[in-house]
Amino acid sequence: MKYNITNKNLAPEGKKRIEWAETKMPVLRLIRKRFKKNKPLRNRRIGCCLHVTTETANLMRTLKAGGAQVFLTASNPLSTQDDVAAALATDDIRIFARNGESRREYYGNMAAVLKGKPEVLIDDGADLISTAHKKRVSGVIGGTEETTTGVIRLKQMEHNKVLQFPIIAVNDSLTKHLFDNRYGTGQSTIDGILRATNMLISGCNFVVAGYGWCGRGLAMRAKGMGAQVIVTEVDPVKALEARMDGYSVMPMTEAAKIGDVFVTVTGDINVITKKHMLKMKNGAIIANSGHFDVEIDKPGLRKITRKKRTIRNSCDEYQLKNEKKIYMLAEGRLVNLAAAEGHPAMVMDMSFANQALAVEYLFNNCNLQNQIYNLPQRLDQEIARLKLKSMGIKIDRLTQEQRRYLSSWKMGT
Ligand SMILES: NC(=O)c1ccc[n+]([C@@H]2O[C@H](COP(=O)([O-])OP(=O)(O)OC[C@H]3O[C@@H](n4cnc5c(N)ncnc54)[C@H](O)[C@@H]3O)[C@@H](O)[C@H]2O)c1
Repeated sequence: MKYNITNKNLAPEGKKRIEWAETKMPVLRLIRKRFKKNKPLRNRRIGCCLHVTTETANLMRTLKAGGAQVFLTASNPLSTQDDVAAALATDDIRIFARNGESRREYYGNMAAVLKGKPEVLIDDGADLISTAHKKRVSGVIGGTEETTTGVIRLKQMEHNKVLQFPIIAVNDSLTKHLFDNRYGTGQSTIDGILRATNMLISGCNFVVAGYGWCGRGLAMRAKGMGAQVIVTEVDPVKALEARMDGYSVMPMTEAAKIGDVFVTVTGDINVITKKHMLKMKNGAIIANSGHFDVEIDKPGLRKITRKKRTIRNSCDEYQLKNEKKIYMLAEGRLVNLAAAEGHPAMVMDMSFANQALAVEYLFNNCNLQNQIYNLPQRLDQEIARLKLKSMGIKIDRLTQEQRRYLSSWKMGT
């Protein structure tokens, strides 16, 4: 089977949107140009598990331009843009992804990618890499991981000494998480909430669970739109940082009583439980922008629900047994991808430049151990340099004197 998509007639629409994203991805365009000329991935097979968006399509085309045969499946059952999937299928990318696919189909599509005997795996959340380990797939020389949750899972595999090949933690590049997790998630999560509800952010109590990179970005954007932001945390340093950044900080049991909107971005499980939901105000909105749909206790919600209906796209109304109504967006899955289009291309430009360079690095460095590595700092810096250049921004350079000063201990008061 070459592909499993919803409707190949959607391809023309997908192609136009991919083209639009491309105009906002100058760093990836430069990499693609070099790949096209030098073919560093000639005859290589790459298996990918990523959100099937217009930005991902541009990464797929870049890998293909480098000479690779590319297999792609979705990293979330609700995030696939079917028109993009159709466009990629006509572009000879072996794609297996349909929006709304069942869990069974999700893993079936993953198996189809692994059947292509990929040598490098590009993952987002570590489902593909962990499946390859469970199925004892051979011939993989390395993998890359896009997101915080995936890196945490893979570090655990490294710790348990079960990792069978080296991994580049793309998420941990500065040009990835400082921008994608913060500004990308910040903006696109608000976008998802707005598309699903059309609510006014201004004046509402907006609860952000988790003040990591995604939480910081989200809190900043909600505040910028006039919300009263409340942060919940488990890490005292992050909680203190949130307070000093100007937000209220309290436990979820307290926030539950006063919040109008709740968004989880922790990468943790059961951050909003039924105990919290029972305390919420009538009309409260709950959403998740962390990687998996485990941050809101969905089975718990079902237990306390009398009646459920879909009231708008990506917005389900739950009438609780205590007579209050609460609204869950995008079935508790990544709200920015399921209810909106995910991160803007401008930011995915850097994330996917990291991915493309990480894949090239893995093929060029066959002596790596079965460990988690960061992309070398010089490549991270180069991506930032190219991004600045594309934005027409120049910066200062260290003088010889400054270089000497900064590398010496002798000069003091
Ligand atoms: N929506 C997207 O497109 C997108 C983009 C990037 C990352 N992510 C995902 O978002 C999640 C967060 O990523 P990050 O980079 O911000 O991680 P991070 O590690 O920087 O931050 C997570 C924060 O959550 C806090 N936390 C953990 N358990 C908590 C709990 N029970 N209550 C309150 N706070 C808790 C941690 O202390 C930490 O400060 C991950 O699952 C990541 O994979 C999503």
